Amino acid sequence: MLDERLLSDADLQQRQHDLENQIKDIDLLNIEITEEDLYDEWCDPKSPHILTFEEISAAAYRIKYGVDKTPCTPSHMSKITGMELYFKKDFLLHTGSFKERGARNTLMTLSAYEKARGVIAASAGNHALAMCYHGQQLGIPVVVVMPRHAPIMKVNNCKSFGAVTIIKGNDLAESKRFALKLSRLLGLRYVNGFDHPHILAGQGSLGLEVLDQVPDVDAILVPTGGGGLLAGVAVAVKSVNPRVQVISVESECAPGFYQATQAGHPIYTECKSTLADGLAVPMVGGNAYATAAPLIDKVVCVSEEYIAIAILRLVEMEKAVVEGAGAAGLAAVLQGLLPELKGKKVVIPLCGGNIDTTVLGRVLERGLVADKRLLKVWLTVSDRPGSLAQMCKLFSSAGASVKDIYHERAWLKSDMFSVQIQVVLEVRDSDHADEVTKVISEHYDKVKFHQDLP
Ligand SMILES: Cc1ncc(COP(=O)(O)O)c(C=O)c1O
Repeated sequence: MLDERLLSDADLQQRQHDLENQIKDIDLLNIEITEEDLYDEWCDPKSPHILTFEEISAAAYRIKYGVDKTPCTPSHMSKITGMELYFKKDFLLHTGSFKERGARNTLMTLSAYEKARGVIAASAGNHALAMCYHGQQLGIPVVVVMPRHAPIMKVNNCKSFGAVTIIKGNDLAESKRFALKLSRLLGLRYVNGFDHPHILAGQGSLGLEVLDQVPDVDAILVPTGGGGLLAGVAVAVKSVNPRVQVISVESECAPGFYQATQAGHPIYTECKSTLADGLAVPMVGGNAYATAAPLIDKVVCVSEEYIAIAILRLVEMEKAVVEGAGAAGLAAVLQGLLPELKGKKVVIPLCGGNIDTTVLGRVLERGLVADKRLLKVWLTVSDRPGSLAQMCKLFSSAGASVKDIYHERAWLKSDMFSVQIQVVLEVRDSDHADEVTKVISEHYDKVKFHQDLP
């Protein structure tokens, strides 16, 4: 039986408890980490592993009882985008992302000795969740090192799967250093979330499922961080049907794969803060790059504004809650970066849904602003009775609804009989926004709109 457990629940708990105690005894603050400690034999950029189709098909078979086949269904947005769009819904997996594919494949390919000792990973989110959940399912001890900024929801979920969860490192790179050092001290296999060959092979199963579900697909748009998903999908798809275009989509704030293609090898790329936090990887994987670079057709980088709009559209039109990284493919289409795909059959993996509720609220508002459905305006009006009422009447006759209003009188430097009003208005769409802007500008002299600010 493929999914046979080696450790019972009780033994697993005992082993995780022992690991926790061993880690408590290590002085992580003063620990010395050498270059040798940082060497990962599975991910050696000097001799990259080129993924094969056979590895992917074996992985797909291996994980089929542990990772559900996700739906790939036609989108409601085909008409507005001019493409025949399909969404591959990996955000519906148990831990909310495609990372389960690679995680389960890697855990299942460990030797019996490695399974009993356990594994360690560094991740801010989806890879950690996938490792913790499938480790618990397969009875394999898991330690995850998460950076200080990792979302609390994700940290708590990792703990709820019984894994040893360590918060260490100011960013993912630092967490990875600790994880590699601990892997040596504790004798655990370190699993790189976007470059371990068994991770890449597992991610490729998404490509195989797409070919099965939409056999005449013309293009697949793959969100890219470290490049693991891109490499897996590219090998799967191009091996079966080289005519299908594979397009890498990154955030403008983390263009690591684009920079690597320019340099001809993975290169350190500074990441700015992005809504697509899952894509913020400063250096793409050596195996992932060497595998994917010769196969892909195009690399595009999307703006934060369009990632926000894509998340908003997915909530409104597809009833799907998707995180920034998972919405990047749709963002590329909405931003008009792929005009050559008009009229074509295009599959977009919605590959992650782990977005904090508070972040989702803020993103939706940003999306409404980017979509010109929220307008912010400052006007100076007379302080005489009735002028505020008159202004509200004007908004109402223009069909704009007041969401927020602030009345400023003390700090104005203009005449004593004026007040400044800051208003947020909700409008129907961008045409309506233009109409309302025109009406307001015609009625008031001193008026300033948010979109006109530098
Ligand atoms: C939702 C989501 N999409 C895409 C990616 C990018 O995957 P990769 O790092 O394999 O390129 C990630 C990575 O964490 C992710 O979480």
